[in-house]
Amino acid sequence: MALTPTANKPVSSATFAHKVVAWQRQHGRNNLPWCDQDAYSVWLSEVMLQQTQVNTVLPYYATFKTRFPSIHDLAAAAIDEVLALWAGLGYYSRARNLHRCAVLVCDLYGGVFPSDLQALQALPGIGPSTAAAIASLAQGQRAAILDGNVKRVMTRHAGIVGWAGLGAINKRLWTTAQARLVSAEMTVASDFHRRYTQGLMDLGATVCHAKKPLCEQCPIAIDCAALLLGQTTEVPTPRPKKITPKQWRDAVVLHTQHGVWLERRPAQGLWGGLLCLPEAQDKPAVDVLVADLLRGRGITPDLLPWSVHHLKHTFTHYQLHWTVWAVNVENNINASFTLPAPWVFAPWADIPTIGVPKAVLKVLSPQKPAA
Ligand code: ADE
Repeated sequence: MALTPTANKPVSSATFAHKVVAWQRQHGRNNLPWCDQDAYSVWLSEVMLQQTQVNTVLPYYATFKTRFPSIHDLAAAAIDEVLALWAGLGYYSRARNLHRCAVLVCDLYGGVFPSDLQALQALPGIGPSTAAAIASLAQGQRAAILDGNVKRVMTRHAGIVGWAGLGAINKRLWTTAQARLVSAEMTVASDFHRRYTQGLMDLGATVCHAKKPLCEQCPIAIDCAALLLGQTTEVPTPRPKKITPKQWRDAVVLHTQHGVWLERRPAQGLWGGLLCLPEAQDKPAVDVLVADLLRGRGITPDLLPWSVHHLKHTFTHYQLHWTVWAVNVENNINASFTLPAPWVFAPWADIPTIGVPKAVLKVLSPQKPAA
Protein backbone atom coordinates (compact mmCIF):
# COMPACT_ATOMS: atom_id res chain seq x y z
CA MET A 1 0.00 0.00 0.00
CA ALA A 2 1.17 3.56 -0.61
CA LEU A 3 0.28 6.76 1.13
CA THR A 4 -1.85 9.01 -1.05
CA PRO A 5 -2.00 11.32 -2.87
CA THR A 6 1.71 12.13 -3.08
CA ALA A 7 2.86 8.64 -3.90
CA ASN A 8 0.86 8.80 -7.12
CA LYS A 9 2.41 12.09 -8.15
CA PRO A 10 5.09 11.60 -10.79
CA VAL A 11 8.52 12.18 -9.28
CA SER A 12 11.18 13.56 -11.57
CA SER A 13 14.10 11.19 -11.11
CA ALA A 14 16.58 13.74 -12.45
CA THR A 15 15.39 16.26 -9.91
CA PHE A 16 15.58 13.81 -7.03
CA ALA A 17 19.07 12.53 -7.88
CA HIS A 18 20.45 16.00 -8.67
CA LYS A 19 19.17 17.35 -5.37
CA VAL A 20 20.80 14.49 -3.47
CA VAL A 21 24.11 15.00 -5.28
CA ALA A 22 24.12 18.78 -4.74
CA TRP A 23 23.34 18.26 -1.06
CA GLN A 24 26.07 15.61 -0.74
CA ARG A 25 28.71 17.95 -2.14
CA GLN A 26 27.90 20.51 0.53
CA HIS A 27 26.69 18.54 3.52
CA GLY A 28 27.72 14.92 2.99
CA ARG A 29 30.30 12.98 4.97
CA ASN A 30 33.18 13.55 2.57
CA ASN A 31 35.99 12.83 5.00
CA LEU A 32 35.33 9.19 5.72
CA PRO A 33 38.52 7.21 5.01
CA TRP A 34 36.83 5.01 2.39
CA CYS A 35 35.45 7.97 0.40
CA ASP A 36 36.86 8.29 -3.10
CA GLN A 37 38.97 5.15 -2.74
CA ASP A 38 39.59 2.06 -4.85
CA ALA A 39 37.25 -0.94 -5.05
CA TYR A 40 39.25 -2.91 -2.47
CA SER A 41 38.85 -0.15 0.13
CA VAL A 42 35.20 0.44 -0.70
CA TRP A 43 34.42 -3.29 -0.56
CA LEU A 44 36.26 -3.68 2.76
CA SER A 45 34.39 -0.74 4.29
CA GLU A 46 31.00 -1.82 2.90
CA VAL A 47 31.34 -5.31 4.36
CA MET A 48 32.34 -3.85 7.72
CA LEU A 49 29.46 -1.35 7.57
CA GLN A 50 26.84 -4.07 7.06
CA GLN A 51 24.87 -3.96 10.35
CA THR A 52 27.62 -1.90 12.04
CA GLN A 53 27.88 1.82 12.81
CA VAL A 54 30.51 4.04 11.18
CA ASN A 55 32.22 4.91 14.49
CA THR A 56 32.65 1.25 15.36
CA VAL A 57 34.03 0.44 11.92
CA LEU A 58 36.64 3.26 11.73
CA PRO A 59 39.41 1.64 13.87
CA TYR A 60 38.86 -1.81 12.29
CA TYR A 61 39.05 -0.35 8.81
CA ALA A 62 42.32 1.40 9.68
CA THR A 63 43.80 -1.80 11.15
CA PHE A 64 42.85 -3.88 8.11
CA LYS A 65 44.21 -1.30 5.68
CA THR A 66 47.50 -1.17 7.59
CA ARG A 67 47.90 -4.93 7.91
CA PHE A 68 46.49 -5.75 4.44
CA PRO A 69 47.30 -2.80 2.17
CA SER A 70 46.06 -4.70 -0.89
CA ILE A 71 43.57 -7.45 -1.62
CA HIS A 72 46.54 -9.75 -2.32
CA ASP A 73 47.79 -9.27 1.24
CA LEU A 74 44.36 -10.13 2.59
CA ALA A 75 44.01 -13.19 0.35
CA ALA A 76 47.44 -14.45 1.45
CA ALA A 77 46.66 -14.11 5.16
CA ALA A 78 45.59 -17.02 7.36
CA ILE A 79 41.85 -16.97 8.14
CA ASP A 80 42.69 -17.16 11.86
CA GLU A 81 44.53 -13.85 11.65
CA VAL A 82 41.62 -12.25 9.78
CA LEU A 83 39.18 -13.52 12.41
CA ALA A 84 41.42 -12.29 15.22
CA LEU A 85 41.56 -8.79 13.70
CA TRP A 86 37.78 -8.87 13.19
CA ALA A 87 37.17 -9.79 16.85
CA GLY A 88 34.68 -7.35 18.37
CA LEU A 89 32.97 -6.35 15.10
CA GLY A 90 30.50 -9.24 15.34
CA TYR A 91 28.76 -11.27 12.64
CA TYR A 92 31.87 -13.36 12.05
CA SER A 93 30.53 -14.95 8.87
CA ARG A 94 31.37 -11.55 7.34
CA ALA A 95 35.07 -12.09 8.12
CA ARG A 96 35.05 -15.60 6.64
CA ASN A 97 33.28 -14.34 3.51
CA LEU A 98 35.66 -11.39 3.31
CA HIS A 99 38.64 -13.72 3.19
CA ARG A 100 36.98 -16.14 0.73
CA CYS A 101 36.04 -13.20 -1.46
CA ALA A 102 39.61 -11.84 -1.44
CA VAL A 103 40.96 -15.24 -2.48
CA LEU A 104 38.39 -15.52 -5.29
CA VAL A 105 38.97 -11.99 -6.62
CA CYS A 106 42.71 -12.73 -6.74
CA ASP A 107 42.26 -16.18 -8.31
CA LEU A 108 39.53 -15.30 -10.79
CA TYR A 109 40.19 -11.63 -11.57
CA GLY A 110 43.87 -11.05 -10.73
CA GLY A 111 42.90 -8.97 -7.71
CA VAL A 112 40.66 -6.51 -9.61
CA PHE A 113 36.97 -6.43 -8.70
CA PRO A 114 34.71 -7.10 -11.69
CA SER A 115 32.52 -4.23 -12.86
CA ASP A 116 29.55 -6.40 -13.75
CA LEU A 117 26.89 -6.28 -11.01
CA GLN A 118 25.98 -9.95 -11.41
CA ALA A 119 29.64 -10.98 -11.15
CA LEU A 120 30.04 -8.85 -8.03
CA GLN A 121 26.94 -10.39 -6.46
CA ALA A 122 28.23 -13.87 -7.15
CA LEU A 123 31.12 -13.24 -4.73
CA PRO A 124 30.80 -14.33 -1.08
CA GLY A 125 29.34 -11.71 1.26
CA ILE A 126 28.28 -9.36 -1.53
CA GLY A 127 24.52 -8.90 -1.82
CA PRO A 128 22.65 -6.65 -4.28
CA SER A 129 23.13 -3.46 -2.25
CA THR A 130 26.82 -4.02 -1.48
CA ALA A 131 27.44 -4.87 -5.16
CA ALA A 132 25.75 -1.62 -6.21
CA ALA A 133 27.69 0.34 -3.58
CA ILE A 134 31.02 -0.99 -4.92
CA ALA A 135 29.93 -0.35 -8.51
CA SER A 136 28.85 3.23 -7.86
CA LEU A 137 31.29 4.36 -5.13
CA ALA A 138 34.44 2.81 -6.55
CA GLN A 139 33.70 2.37 -10.23
CA GLY A 140 31.42 5.37 -10.89
CA GLN A 141 28.60 3.21 -12.24
CA ARG A 142 24.89 3.99 -12.17
CA ALA A 143 23.48 1.43 -9.73
CA ALA A 144 20.70 1.44 -7.12
CA ILE A 145 21.61 0.72 -3.50
CA LEU A 146 19.24 -0.10 -0.68
CA ASP A 147 20.87 -0.49 2.70
CA GLY A 148 19.01 0.05 5.97
CA ASN A 149 19.34 3.84 6.04
CA VAL A 150 18.52 4.23 2.37
CA LYS A 151 15.43 2.07 2.75
CA ARG A 152 14.13 4.62 5.25
CA VAL A 153 14.74 7.51 2.83
CA MET A 154 13.03 5.68 -0.05
CA THR A 155 10.14 4.48 2.10
CA ARG A 156 9.35 7.95 3.34
CA HIS A 157 9.87 9.73 0.06
CA ALA A 158 7.67 7.29 -1.88
CA GLY A 159 5.22 6.80 1.01
CA ILE A 160 5.49 3.04 1.07
CA VAL A 161 3.39 1.51 3.81
CA GLY A 162 4.18 -2.01 5.04
CA TRP A 163 7.08 -3.71 6.76
CA ALA A 164 10.21 -3.86 4.57
CA GLY A 165 10.84 -7.44 5.71
CA LEU A 166 7.92 -8.54 3.52
CA GLY A 167 8.96 -9.72 0.07
CA ALA A 168 6.38 -7.57 -1.74
CA ILE A 169 7.42 -4.39 0.12
CA ASN A 170 11.11 -5.10 -0.44
CA LYS A 171 10.42 -5.52 -4.15
CA ARG A 172 8.62 -2.17 -4.23
CA LEU A 173 11.55 -0.56 -2.47
CA TRP A 174 13.97 -1.82 -5.09
CA THR A 175 11.69 -0.57 -7.87
CA THR A 176 11.51 2.79 -6.09
CA ALA A 177 15.31 2.96 -5.69
CA GLN A 178 15.77 2.05 -9.36
CA ALA A 179 13.21 4.65 -10.49
CA ARG A 180 14.98 7.42 -8.60
CA LEU A 181 18.34 6.91 -10.30
CA VAL A 182 19.20 9.60 -12.78
CA SER A 183 18.10 8.54 -16.25
CA ALA A 184 20.68 6.31 -17.96
CA GLU A 185 20.71 8.64 -20.98
CA MET A 186 21.56 11.74 -19.03
CA THR A 187 25.14 13.00 -19.14
CA VAL A 188 26.42 13.58 -15.65
CA ALA A 189 29.69 14.55 -13.95
CA SER A 190 32.18 11.73 -13.39
CA ASP A 191 31.61 11.77 -9.63
CA PHE A 192 27.80 11.94 -9.94
CA HIS A 193 26.93 8.29 -9.26
CA ARG A 194 29.45 8.04 -6.44
CA ARG A 195 28.04 11.16 -4.79
CA TYR A 196 24.48 10.01 -5.33
CA THR A 197 25.05 6.71 -3.53
CA GLN A 198 27.06 8.34 -0.74
CA GLY A 199 24.46 11.13 -0.55
CA LEU A 200 21.60 8.69 0.03
CA MET A 201 23.59 6.96 2.76
CA ASP A 202 24.53 10.30 4.32
CA LEU A 203 20.94 11.57 4.17
CA GLY A 204 19.69 8.41 5.86
CA ALA A 205 22.33 8.57 8.58
CA THR A 206 22.40 12.30 9.34
CA VAL A 207 19.00 13.77 8.34
CA CYS A 208 16.31 11.14 7.75
CA HIS A 209 16.67 9.73 11.26
CA ALA A 210 14.38 6.90 12.30
CA LYS A 211 13.21 9.05 15.21
CA LYS A 212 12.89 12.83 14.84
CA PRO A 213 13.99 13.24 11.20
CA LEU A 214 15.45 16.69 10.42
CA CYS A 215 13.05 17.36 7.54
CA GLU A 216 13.85 21.09 7.48
CA GLN A 217 17.40 20.16 6.41
CA CYS A 218 16.35 17.59 3.82
CA PRO A 219 16.95 18.40 0.13
CA ILE A 220 14.10 16.15 -1.02
CA ALA A 221 11.51 17.17 1.59
CA ILE A 222 9.44 19.11 -0.95
CA ASP A 223 7.87 15.97 -2.42
CA CYS A 224 8.38 13.55 0.47
CA ALA A 225 5.08 11.67 0.80
CA ALA A 226 5.52 10.84 4.48
CA LEU A 227 6.29 14.46 5.37
CA LEU A 228 3.45 15.91 3.31
CA LEU A 229 0.98 13.60 4.99
CA GLY A 230 2.45 14.08 8.46
CA GLN A 231 3.36 10.39 8.62
CA THR A 232 7.11 10.43 9.23
CA THR A 233 6.56 8.79 12.61
CA GLU A 234 4.46 5.96 11.15
CA VAL A 235 6.61 5.36 8.05
CA PRO A 236 8.63 3.15 7.71
CA THR A 237 6.17 0.65 9.10
CA PRO A 238 7.86 -1.17 11.99
CA ARG A 239 8.23 -4.92 12.10
CA PRO A 240 4.91 -6.33 13.30
CA LYS A 241 5.00 -7.27 16.96
CA LYS A 242 5.16 -11.00 17.48
CA ILE A 243 2.16 -12.31 19.33
CA THR A 244 3.69 -14.61 21.88
CA PRO A 245 1.37 -17.38 23.04
CA LYS A 246 1.07 -17.70 26.79
CA GLN A 247 0.89 -20.83 28.87
CA TRP A 248 -0.36 -20.70 32.45
CA ARG A 249 0.70 -23.46 34.81
CA ASP A 250 1.19 -24.10 38.51
CA ALA A 251 4.51 -25.31 39.89
CA VAL A 252 5.39 -26.69 43.30
CA VAL A 253 8.38 -25.97 45.49
CA LEU A 254 8.25 -28.75 48.05
CA HIS A 255 11.15 -28.01 50.36
CA THR A 256 12.81 -28.10 53.74
CA GLN A 257 15.44 -25.72 55.02
CA HIS A 258 18.07 -28.02 53.48
CA GLY A 259 16.82 -28.39 49.94
CA VAL A 260 14.01 -29.03 47.49
CA TRP A 261 12.44 -32.01 45.70
CA LEU A 262 12.84 -31.84 41.97
CA GLU A 263 11.56 -34.13 39.27
CA ARG A 264 13.78 -35.40 36.47
CA ARG A 265 12.02 -34.73 33.16
CA PRO A 266 11.74 -37.43 30.50
CA ALA A 267 14.63 -37.36 28.00
CA GLN A 268 12.36 -36.12 25.18
CA GLY A 269 10.57 -32.78 25.08
CA LEU A 270 11.02 -29.46 26.84
CA TRP A 271 13.86 -29.47 29.38
CA GLY A 272 14.53 -33.13 28.50
CA GLY A 273 16.56 -34.86 31.24
CA LEU A 274 16.79 -31.76 33.43
CA LEU A 275 15.66 -31.50 37.04
CA CYS A 276 12.49 -29.42 37.26
CA LEU A 277 9.77 -28.32 39.60
CA PRO A 278 6.71 -30.54 39.51
CA GLU A 279 3.83 -28.93 37.62
CA ALA A 280 0.06 -29.14 37.89
CA GLN A 281 -2.93 -27.54 36.18
CA ASP A 282 -4.27 -25.62 39.18
CA LYS A 283 -4.15 -25.46 43.00
CA PRO A 284 -6.50 -28.43 43.59
CA ALA A 285 -4.20 -30.49 41.32
CA VAL A 286 -1.20 -29.17 43.29
CA ASP A 287 -2.89 -30.39 46.49
CA VAL A 288 -3.45 -33.85 44.97
CA LEU A 289 0.19 -34.00 43.85
CA VAL A 290 1.52 -33.04 47.28
CA ALA A 291 -0.92 -35.33 49.11
CA ASP A 292 0.26 -38.14 46.85
CA LEU A 293 3.92 -37.45 47.53
CA LEU A 294 3.42 -37.30 51.27
CA ARG A 295 0.99 -40.24 51.24
CA GLY A 296 0.51 -42.12 54.49
CA ARG A 297 1.66 -39.26 56.66
CA GLY A 298 -1.78 -37.99 57.48
CA ILE A 299 -0.99 -34.60 55.97
CA THR A 300 -3.78 -32.42 54.69
CA PRO A 301 -2.30 -30.07 52.06
CA ASP A 302 -4.89 -27.44 53.05
CA LEU A 303 -3.24 -27.08 56.44
CA LEU A 304 0.32 -26.69 55.15
CA PRO A 305 2.03 -23.27 55.28
CA TRP A 306 1.79 -22.41 51.57
CA SER A 307 3.21 -19.29 50.02
CA VAL A 308 2.50 -18.29 46.44
CA HIS A 309 4.08 -16.07 43.83
CA HIS A 310 4.02 -15.56 40.08
CA LEU A 311 6.85 -15.84 37.61
CA LYS A 312 7.04 -15.09 33.90
CA HIS A 313 9.64 -16.82 31.71
CA THR A 314 9.96 -16.05 28.01
CA PHE A 315 10.96 -18.75 25.54
CA THR A 316 11.48 -18.12 21.82
CA HIS A 317 7.98 -19.27 20.94
CA TYR A 318 5.90 -18.73 24.05
CA GLN A 319 5.70 -17.19 27.46
CA LEU A 320 5.37 -19.39 30.50
CA HIS A 321 3.42 -17.97 33.43
CA TRP A 322 3.97 -19.99 36.54
CA THR A 323 1.96 -19.72 39.71
CA VAL A 324 4.54 -21.05 42.12
CA TRP A 325 3.25 -22.77 45.25
CA ALA A 326 5.99 -23.16 47.87
CA VAL A 327 5.63 -25.18 51.01
CA ASN A 328 8.09 -26.07 53.76
CA VAL A 329 7.34 -29.61 54.92
CA GLU A 330 10.13 -29.62 57.48
CA ASN A 331 7.71 -30.32 60.33
CA ASN A 332 5.70 -32.95 58.46
CA ILE A 333 8.42 -35.46 57.65
CA ASN A 334 11.18 -37.22 59.52
CA ALA A 335 14.90 -37.49 58.72
CA SER A 336 14.48 -40.79 56.83
CA PHE A 337 11.89 -39.41 54.41
CA THR A 338 12.75 -40.16 50.76
CA LEU A 339 10.93 -40.16 47.45
CA PRO A 340 11.59 -42.66 44.67
CA ALA A 341 12.82 -41.67 41.17
CA PRO A 342 12.10 -39.51 39.23
CA TRP A 343 12.24 -37.42 42.41
CA VAL A 344 15.61 -36.05 43.48
CA PHE A 345 16.26 -34.13 46.67
CA ALA A 346 18.54 -31.25 45.72
CA PRO A 347 20.39 -29.43 48.50
CA TRP A 348 20.09 -25.64 48.04
CA ALA A 349 23.82 -25.20 47.49
CA ASP A 350 23.86 -27.74 44.61
CA ILE A 351 21.08 -26.17 42.60
CA PRO A 352 23.22 -23.88 40.39
CA THR A 353 25.37 -26.82 39.26
CA ILE A 354 23.04 -29.81 38.87
CA GLY A 355 21.41 -28.84 35.60
CA VAL A 356 18.13 -27.06 36.21
CA PRO A 357 16.52 -24.84 33.57
CA LYS A 358 16.82 -21.06 33.90
CA ALA A 359 13.16 -20.67 34.82
CA VAL A 360 13.59 -23.07 37.75
CA LEU A 361 16.74 -21.26 38.84
CA LYS A 362 14.77 -18.01 38.82
CA VAL A 363 12.17 -19.57 41.10
CA LEU A 364 14.61 -21.19 43.47
CA SER A 365 17.11 -18.39 43.95
CA PRO A 366 14.91 -16.44 46.38
CA GLN A 367 13.42 -19.59 47.96
CA LYS A 368 16.43 -20.61 50.01
CA PRO A 369 15.68 -19.75 53.61
CA ALA A 370 18.18 -17.49 55.36
CA ALA A 371 20.89 -19.60 57.00
N1 ADE B 1 27.14 2.62 5.40
C1 ADE B 1 27.25 1.80 4.35
N2 ADE B 1 28.09 2.34 3.43
C2 ADE B 1 28.51 3.51 3.92
C3 ADE B 1 29.39 4.51 3.46
N3 ADE B 1 29.99 4.39 2.27
N4 ADE B 1 29.59 5.59 4.22
C4 ADE B 1 28.97 5.69 5.41
N5 ADE B 1 28.14 4.79 5.91
C5 ADE B 1 27.90 3.69 5.18
